[in-house]
Amino acid sequence: MKLHIAAVASLLALAVATTTAGAVTFDVRNTASNTAGGQRFDQDYGLDYAKQVLSEASTFTWNIFNQQSAADRKPVDVVTLIVENITGVAFTIGSDIHYSAQSIADTTGDFKPAVTGVLYHEIVHVWQWGLQDYRAHSWVFEGIADFVRLKAGYIAAHWVKPGEGSSWDQGYDVTARFLEYCDSLSSGFVAVLNAKLKDGYSDDYFVQILGKNVQQLWSDYKAKYGG
Ligand SMILES: *[C@@H]1O[C@H](CO)[C@@H](O)[C@H](O)[C@H]1NC(C)=O
Repeated sequence: MKLHIAAVASLLALAVATTTAGAVTFDVRNTASNTAGGQRFDQDYGLDYAKQVLSEASTFTWNIFNQQSAADRKPVDVVTLIVENITGVAFTIGSDIHYSAQSIADTTGDFKPAVTGVLYHEIVHVWQWGLQDYRAHSWVFEGIADFVRLKAGYIAAHWVKPGEGSSWDQGYDVTARFLEYCDSLSSGFVAVLNAKLKDGYSDDYFVQILGKNVQQLWSDYKAKYGG
């Protein structure tokens, strides 16, 4: 009887996961359960919770990108998160997210929101357009990933404050704060930028969307926060 209930419960869980995020399947594996970080992930975050976060983060990203239908999105059927014994924090190749167990072990502060913030950032790399241009213009892709993370409310403690940083193309939090300013000038700016990135990056996108070049926008942004 217990077994039967467990089987029904897991079928229900599967049904929820597939209905909340279109036809996409979310798969989570931990190959580092023999390490302190892997154990921390299993005990304090959990595979099922991670699946749910990946699903919610995908829906959140599609909303930011204004991709209401699956036809607007990158054609991805399965998103996989693998917690493993690697250096660094996390990276994404295609639709596979690799997350360092060591970094999970070293996470300070409020554990679950910190991990969720990393997952939001990485899931954006699964769904964003234009990564063929990543090497030449990594800042814009990392900036968009942190912009989505920012909008979801998972700002990390070490991030710059609004108006900080020395250039729009520093990437990550600096670019994310700048993109938030651009988005305040024209709501949905990042959705349009992401769509344009399908053809690769161009500085001209700022002019096309906001009518000002990126240098001017950065000056305006710095001036707004007192230079
Ligand atoms: C994790 O990786 C490091 C570096 O490659 C290695 O020294 C260590 O033995 C690995 N730990 C486990 C549990 O596999």
